[in-house]
Amino acid sequence: MRTAYGITLALSASFRLTSAAPRGGSSLLYVTTYPVSDDLGKVLTLKLDGAGLQSVAESDSCGPYPSWLTQAGNILYCVNEAWGGDHGDLASLKIGADLSLAKLSGGTTVGGPVSTIVYGAGGRGLAVADYAGGGINTFNISDPAAIVPLQTEVFPKPPDNRPEPQNQARPHEAVLDPTGNFLVFPDLGADLLRTFRADKKTLALTESKVYEFSRGTGPRHAAFLKSGSKTFLYVVCELANLLQGFSVTYNADNTLSFTQIYNATTHGDSNPVPAGTSAAEITLSPDRKFLTLSSRNEKSLQYTLANGTTVPSDPLITFAINAATGALSHVQTAPAGGINPRHFSFNKDGTRVASALQSDGRIVVFERDVASGKIGKAVAEADVPGMPNFAVFAQ
Ligand SMILES: *[C@@H]1O[C@H](CO)[C@@H](O)[C@H](O)[C@H]1NC(C)=O
Ligand SMILES: *[C@@H]1O[C@H](CO)[C@@H](O)[C@H](O)[C@H]1NC(C)=O
Ligand SMILES: *[C@@H]1O[C@H](CO)[C@@H](O)[C@H](O)[C@H]1NC(C)=O
Repeated sequence: MRTAYGITLALSASFRLTSAAPRGGSSLLYVTTYPVSDDLGKVLTLKLDGAGLQSVAESDSCGPYPSWLTQAGNILYCVNEAWGGDHGDLASLKIGADLSLAKLSGGTTVGGPVSTIVYGAGGRGLAVADYAGGGINTFNISDPAAIVPLQTEVFPKPPDNRPEPQNQARPHEAVLDPTGNFLVFPDLGADLLRTFRADKKTLALTESKVYEFSRGTGPRHAAFLKSGSKTFLYVVCELANLLQGFSVTYNADNTLSFTQIYNATTHGDSNPVPAGTSAAEITLSPDRKFLTLSSRNEKSLQYTLANGTTVPSDPLITFAINAATGALSHVQTAPAGGINPRHFSFNKDGTRVASALQSDGRIVVFERDVASGKIGKAVAEADVPGMPNFAVFAQ
């Protein structure tokens, strides 16, 4: 098939299907991949059922460097990171009854978009974090077939003169607080948590306070937890490989403050991590009792493929959350299924974890014990074309 990018793609790549999947029902996973050599990145739809994990649809309509998806009903919002380009792209893709993805509308972003989130009344806004260009965007997605650009912010370079990636601002994720009144963007380049008031009606973002991390920390992704009357925020920091917890204060002047309540390495201790380690994703379990993060390029564990071959693996590291204090305690360091788990996600009831192994071109789905928070054995795995950087269960 000929694509907008003038490259011929084979319609169905060969997937190696392995092992038995859970009995009873099936689920879908949406995956994005970065390109490898001449291959383009794609959005893949994988089906998990008794036959394993197999590709049932693929699309190149997000552009050649898809990096993140946000599902809202039957629409997938996808960003094209467009490596080396002067801007990135947003696309709304309609999920058809036959699982095909048809592009409805789109928009242009600051360079290198890597994360999106829906906000505003009725889910009418979409915020984007743009890593390469050092900015953020918002869009009006009231009509997914006619996306309207709203705001664009490009942040100034930090005043000090640090090497890449800290030579400029690098927002890495767009995160909505539990009230829906604030958006926060961990900025890996400037070592800031940038906070914005988000007007639910007009969708306007107003820049608010920043929280400053120690220089060299590299905050990447974050997860809020509302626990009783308290709110906590957990931030995974890629450059220093730290996990930091904060209690969040909603101030009378409509700003947020963050007070550190937890700080340890991504392994939950103070021991040095292996050279080359680069923390990536952080996700709360659906029951909000556990927190899991992924750490890349450690090769500290092993994973046995369905064909019996043992390969090096990075970890998925799980912590239990004390609901009263927000304190964390280490529960498990489990194999992610290979190298470079840039992204992973839980299914709705928390009984499965899907892991995207970017460097190995593999997706692995694991069992998860909801009571202990522990990740168990692999239930299915698939080799996918390109470098999978994101894997989320369909809603
Ligand atoms: C968003 O777009 C819709 C049209 O799709 C328009 O009616 C609405 O006023 C816009 N909202 C904002 C906040 O711009
Ligand atoms: C967090 O912990 C790390 C590792 O133990 C330490 O190097 C760093 O100084 C601590 N940072 C803060 C802000 O507490
Ligand atoms: C098992 O699968 C891996 C990944 O596809 C492959 O590299 C390896 O050669 C396979 N091993 C055997 C014994 O088939």
